[in-house]
Amino acid sequence: MSDEAVESLLLENRTFPPSAEFVARATVTDDALDVAAAADPEAFWADRARELVDWFEPFDTVCEWDLPNARWFVGGKLNVSYNCLDRHVAAGHGDQVAYYWEGEPGDARAITYAQLLDEVAQLANALKGLGVQKGDRVNIYLGMVPELPMALLACARIGAAHSVVFGGFSADSLRDRINDAGAKVLITGDGAWRRGGVVPLKEIADEAVAECPSIEQVLVLRRTGNEVAMTAGRDVWWHDVVPNQSTDCPPEPMDAEDLLFLLYSSGTTGKPKGIMHTTGGYLTQVAYTHRLVFDLQPDDVYFCTADVGWITGHSYIVYGPLANRTTSVIYEGAPDFPDKTRTWAVIEKYRATILYTAPTAIRSYMKWGDEHLEGHDLSSLRLLGSVGEPINPEAWIWYWEKVGGGRCPIVDTWWQTETGAIMIAPIPGRTVLKPGSATFPLPGVGAGLVDNAGVTLGVPASGNLVLTQPWPSMLRGIWGEPQRYFDTYWSRFAGRYFAGDGCKVDADGYFWLLGRVDDIMLIAGHNISTAEVEHALVGHPAVAEAAVVGRSDPTSGQAIAAFVILRSGVEPSDSLVAELRDHVGATIGPIAKPKSILFTEDLPKTRSGKIMRRLLKDVSEDGSLGDTTTLADPGVVESIKARYLAQAGSDDE
Ligand code: WTA
Repeated sequence: MSDEAVESLLLENRTFPPSAEFVARATVTDDALDVAAAADPEAFWADRARELVDWFEPFDTVCEWDLPNARWFVGGKLNVSYNCLDRHVAAGHGDQVAYYWEGEPGDARAITYAQLLDEVAQLANALKGLGVQKGDRVNIYLGMVPELPMALLACARIGAAHSVVFGGFSADSLRDRINDAGAKVLITGDGAWRRGGVVPLKEIADEAVAECPSIEQVLVLRRTGNEVAMTAGRDVWWHDVVPNQSTDCPPEPMDAEDLLFLLYSSGTTGKPKGIMHTTGGYLTQVAYTHRLVFDLQPDDVYFCTADVGWITGHSYIVYGPLANRTTSVIYEGAPDFPDKTRTWAVIEKYRATILYTAPTAIRSYMKWGDEHLEGHDLSSLRLLGSVGEPINPEAWIWYWEKVGGGRCPIVDTWWQTETGAIMIAPIPGRTVLKPGSATFPLPGVGAGLVDNAGVTLGVPASGNLVLTQPWPSMLRGIWGEPQRYFDTYWSRFAGRYFAGDGCKVDADGYFWLLGRVDDIMLIAGHNISTAEVEHALVGHPAVAEAAVVGRSDPTSGQAIAAFVILRSGVEPSDSLVAELRDHVGATIGPIAKPKSILFTEDLPKTRSGKIMRRLLKDVSEDGSLGDTTTLADPGVVESIKARYLAQAGSDDE
C-alpha cells in the first residue's frame, strides 16, 4: 500500500469522542430517547409532537399506516407560521433576532421575530388580495432574500401550499414545475445577485409564465433594480401591495395532514417528482431533529449555507430553526464573492456558533487553500454539520481541524427531500464520531440494510439502505402520481422504504453511506461503488475532487472513467495519471484502477451540488448529452467533452 492509502484508512478508523467541555453543556448526553423510542415508537413521536408544537386542537390518533400511505397526528389542528412566529412573540421574545441577513453586495438586515411576524402577516394579506385561498398552490422563484422565508411562511399562514423553485433554474424547469403544481400565483423578483452580476429572475419567469395557463397574478419584489417588463393586469410590485396591508392576519387552522408544500426533487436522473409534505408530522420532526442534532442552545447563532430552494433550506433555514426560536444567519450570494474569504468573514461578523454546509462546499474551500481562513476569527464556532453526499474522511478532517479548530463535533446528517428531516446523524453530546460516517439512525427512526433479494442483513454488511417504519415527516406522495410514489419507494423491497442509497454498516453498527445504488459499477464481475473510487482518488494529496463513472468496455463489461480536479498548484502530467491509477489500485485493489483519468477544472453538478454522473457517462460513452437543464453550469460538460475526445485513447491501456 502507498503511504497515502494507509493514511486514508487510518483516518477512517480514528474515533472522536465529544470533549468533556462539549458534554458539560450538551442538551442530550444519554440514551433515554432511544429507550423511549424503542419501547413505543408512536408514543415517542406523540410526546415530541406535544412537546415541540402548539396545537389549536389536539390529535386523537398518532399514526394511521396503510402502506404506502401514512397519516400522522390525525384530527390535530395547527398552523405552522403560528408555531414559527406568533407563539414566540406572545411569549415575550419579539425582540430576538430571527434572521441576520447578509446581502451579497454588503448590505445587511437584522429581522426580529416581531418584525418577521408583521411582514409575514402583511404578505399573507396581500396574497389573499391576489386571490389566493386555502388549498391553492403558490410558486416562489426568488434569490436568497429575507422575503423568501417570508413567502413560505405567508403561504403556510393562509393554508396555501408553496412550491419553491430554486432561483438558478431555467425558464423551462420553472414552467414545468408551475404547470405540474397548477399554481395560481407566482412570487418572484426583478433579479437576484450572483457573483456581482444579476440573474434576471423576472425575465426568466416571464418566459415560463407565457406557457403557464394557471398563473393569474405575479408578485414582483424589487431587489437588484434592473429594468423589468410588467404585464398589466397580471404583474404587481411587492412594494405597491404589501407594505400597506394590515399586520393582522389570523393564522388559518390547518389539519395535521393538509399539504404544507411541494418540492420538486433535484434528482440526478429522470423527470422531477413533486414531493408532498404535510403539516403536523413535518413540523414535529424538523423541530425535533434541528434541536437534537445541532444540540441547540438559547445563545446559538446558527448559519446554514444551503439555499431555501432546496429541502435543506425548507427544513433547516425556515421551519426547524424558527419553530425552535433560533437566531440564524442567511447569506444571499456566492461564497467566493467578492473573494474566497466570504464564508469566514460572515461567521466572524455574526459570531456564528453552528455552521451547516455541504461536502462539495468543504472541498471547494480546501481547493481554494487554507490562506482564506487564516486571519479570520472562527472561535465562536462550536458545532459543524454536513449534508448532501458522503463526506470523504480527508474533507472531514480538514473541516475538523481548519474550521472547527479541533474542538467542534461534526454532525454528518443523512436524509433526503423525501424524508423531510434528518434520519441518520450523530447526537453530538454523546456519539463517538468516525470521519466519513453518519453514525446511527436517530431515536424514532428505523433503518437497516437488505441485499438485492430483500433479505435483511446483519452487521457488519454492505447493501441497500431501507427505512423500516413510517416517520412523521415522511413524504406523503408524489403530486399527481400515486402509482409512481409506490413504484419508486415501496415496490423494490416489500414493506420497506427504499432510499436508493448503498450503505455499509461496520462491526460497531456505524452507517457509512456509499452513494446512490445506480452509481454502482460492475467491473469484471465485481461491484464497485463510484464513491469508493472517488474516495480513494481524493485521498491522494494532488487531488481536490473526483468523479468516476462506469463506461461500457468490451473486455471488462464496464471500465472506470475518472474525472479529476487537481489542487491548486498541482500540474497535470502523464506520470501523475499513472501515480493516481496505482494509488487507487493500492487503496481498493487493482480491479478498481480507473482505465482513463481526465484532468478537468470543473465537474457537472446539479444546482444543489451533486455530481451528475449521467452526463459524465454520456461524455465517456460519447453519447448525447441528454437533459442538462438542472445543471449548474451547462458549459462544463461541453468543455469536458471536448477535452475527453481530444485525449481519448492516450491514457487507455
Ligand atoms: C445523499 C438532501 C451521504 C443521498 C438533504 C440521499 C447523503 C440524497 C447525505 C438526497 C449524507 C444526503 N451522506 N449521502 N450525509 N445526505 N445524501 O433529496 O444519496 O437533495 O439519497 O436531500 O443525497 O438528496 P436530497
